Amino acid sequence: MQSRVQDAPRIIAAGAAGASAETVAVLENDGIAALPTETVYGLCARASSHAAVAKVFAAKGRPAHNPLIVHVDDLAGVEHLCTLSAAGQALAEAFWPGPLTLVARLAREGAVAGAALGGGQTVAVRMPSARFFRDVLSRVGPLVAPSANRSGRVSATSAAAVADDLGAAVDLVVDGGPSPIGLESTVVDVSEGVAVLRHGAITAAQIEAVAGPLTPGARGGPLRSPGMLTSHYAPRAVLRLNVAAHAVAEGEGYVAFGNAGDLSAALVWEELSQAGDLHEAARGLYAALRRLDNAGVKTIAVAPIPAEGIGVAINDRLARAAAPRPDG
Ligand code: TXA
Ligand code: MG
Repeated sequence: MQSRVQDAPRIIAAGAAGASAETVAVLENDGIAALPTETVYGLCARASSHAAVAKVFAAKGRPAHNPLIVHVDDLAGVEHLCTLSAAGQALAEAFWPGPLTLVARLAREGAVAGAALGGGQTVAVRMPSARFFRDVLSRVGPLVAPSANRSGRVSATSAAAVADDLGAAVDLVVDGGPSPIGLESTVVDVSEGVAVLRHGAITAAQIEAVAGPLTPGARGGPLRSPGMLTSHYAPRAVLRLNVAAHAVAEGEGYVAFGNAGDLSAALVWEELSQAGDLHEAARGLYAALRRLDNAGVKTIAVAPIPAEGIGVAINDRLARAAAPRPDG
């Protein structure tokens, strides 16, 4: 285990008596709370609170130019924030509440603390399905919620991972068990045409089936969505991708997928899904990378994972985790 000099945050179970009242109190006092969603844990602040939004950026060590997703619990909340195109409305109807984020034109200044928007004319909005989260939204209004991890690291898919990454920088962590999807939402820009900025559980094919063909040339580059910066979602260890079990080097950690065979060359290993189920693999990916990091391996080899369905998003996150790091 890595030693950390920070204190542990307060952690309460989502099902505990008074959990949502306590969460509401923290948020109404401009505090920040990590809450479970169906994708990953979110680090929440009231979207209208400048002080709380500033705490989110500080706790994550997030660059100021990288905007946050605003989470809402109904369509009135969406309309108050942004103007959805016809394609955006169709996607909202098909996939909300759920693991979809839409980037749309900002309807008015002032509804959200400016710092949350990164100075742009668009806003990212999501209506999550997680019950506890929705209950809190209905009581305190729109919440910004980036993934509850230090900037650039893999997202947290358990309360323990949040506590390990953020320590007492977060006022409260609500434990809702392991995240059911395990990867962040699909981000679709509908502000000009339709472009998938980040892959997720809802696939590009599902987006096209509802919104029509993606707009040619509109695919977001790094500047269009700062979260698409190449090196991101990274464990501390260096990653080596598409490595078959027999090619694992002595002393490497290994992430296996499907029927892995002999894993004796690996120092420590994780099996994402012996049955080769991509949804199971998505659910366990970040926890597996965190455990291998905590085991202290310097290199993690990862088995090939089919780039189909949610496997596209898994491969996207792995490629970013394997990319050269700006800080070495
Ligand atoms: O599943 C999720 O989306 C989770 C849960 C907690 O809801 N949240 C999440 O937030 O992953 P975050 O901040 O880690 O990732 C949001 C992504 C980033 O890549 C950010 O750059 C992008 O959305 N984004 C936010 N606002 C944007 C905007 N106006 N235009 C383009 N991209 C934007
Ligand atoms: Mg994130």
